[in-house]
Amino acid sequence: MDEKYTRMDSDEVLRLITERKGQLGGEVCILGHHYQRDEVFQFADFTGDSLVLSRQAAGTGAKYIVFCGVRFMAESADILTSDDCAVILPEMSAGCEMADLAKAEDVSAALERVSSATGATVVPITYVNSSAAVKAVTGRAGGACCTSGNARSVFEWAFQPKDSGGAGGAKILAAPDQHLARNTALAMGYGLDDCVLYDPAAPNGGLTDGQIRGAAFILWKGYCYVHQVFTVEQIERVRKARPDIKVIVHPECPHEVVAAADFAGSTEQILRAVADSPAGAGWAVGTEVNMVRRLATDNPDKYVRLLSDEPAVCTSMSRTDPQHLLWVLDNLAEGRIVNRIIVPEDVASDARAALERMISIKTGR
Ligand code: 13P
Ligand code: SF4
Repeated sequence: MDEKYTRMDSDEVLRLITERKGQLGGEVCILGHHYQRDEVFQFADFTGDSLVLSRQAAGTGAKYIVFCGVRFMAESADILTSDDCAVILPEMSAGCEMADLAKAEDVSAALERVSSATGATVVPITYVNSSAAVKAVTGRAGGACCTSGNARSVFEWAFQPKDSGGAGGAKILAAPDQHLARNTALAMGYGLDDCVLYDPAAPNGGLTDGQIRGAAFILWKGYCYVHQVFTVEQIERVRKARPDIKVIVHPECPHEVVAAADFAGSTEQILRAVADSPAGAGWAVGTEVNMVRRLATDNPDKYVRLLSDEPAVCTSMSRTDPQHLLWVLDNLAEGRIVNRIIVPEDVASDARAALERMISIKTGR
C-alpha cells in the first residue's frame, strides 16, 4: 500500500471510500465478516458468517468482490466465482491462525492413516477455516466442507447411506477445529468416548489402530486461540451478577463452555438470537470482541456484554483497516486490480467439489 494512505486524515479516508464506492457502483461488492472493525464493516454491501458470505459470493454478479475478512474466506469466494470475477483481500497478511494448523500433506497422510487402520469408509469434513489445498484434499476424497452454521447437517450427511444421498461414512475425520467437531458430535448424541484426537506432530497421529477403530470421530488437534479464552468460571460469574442473563457462545469454544452456555451458534446465529430477543434481555456473548461491541451498540434496549473481562481479539480480522480498503478501491477506480486472490485451477476444482457439496446439503437455514 502506498505510504500516503497512512498519513491521510481518517475522516478523509472514510469520505473517499464512500466516493469510490459510488463511482464503482454495482461493479464492486464489498463483503464484511462480523468480526471486522466498525470503520470497515460499515462499508459492507453484505455482512454475515462464513456460510452466508460463501453463498453471497457464489451468487454475486459483481466484477470485483472486496472481501473484508480473512484469506480462507477470499479463497472460497474465488473458488466459487467465475474467472471474470476478481476477488480482492485488502490486507494480504489477514490469515487465520487456526487454518494454519492444518497442512494439506498432513491431512492427506491422516486420511491414509485412519483409513488403513480401520478399513472403514472415512469421510473427511473440513471446516471452511482451512486453506484451499486442504479443501482440495477433502473434495478429492469425497468429503465436504462445513461452517459453524451447518456442521451438524454436514456431519449427518457424512454418515447417511449413499443410496439416500449421503456419503456412506463409518467415521469422520474432522479438521482443523477439534472444538467445533467435538461440539457437533455431542449435539448429535455421541459421547466424548466416540471422539479421539489426532495430533499431526506425533508419530501415527499419536493414536493406536485400536483407538482409531473404536472412534466415530477423529478430531484434528487444532483450535482457535480467540475462543480458547472463554471458561465455565466466567459463565458462573456473569450468572451470579445477573441471574436472568443468557449466555451464547461460538462452537469454537471448548465443549465444557458450550455445555454450560444456554446457546451456541455461528456469528450470524448469535446476531439473530440477540436481535430477536425482547427488550430488556441480558446477554453474555462468547465470541470475538468487535462483534460483541457492535451487538451492544445495535441493541441499545438490551444488556449485551462480552463473556470474558479481557477482550477476545482476532488480530487477523483486525488487520483490515479503512486505509487498505480505500487503497484497493482507488486502484479499481483507476482500472488496476491489487491484492487479487487466485486459487490455481488444479486446486480450485477439487476444493470447489467440497464447497459445493456443503452448499447443496440442506441445513434449514
Ligand atoms: P462464523 O462462520 O460463525 O462467522 O465463524 C467464522 C470464524 O472464523 C469464527 O472464528
Ligand atoms: Fe481464525 Fe479464530 Fe480469527 Fe476465526 S477468530 S478467523 S478461527 S483465528
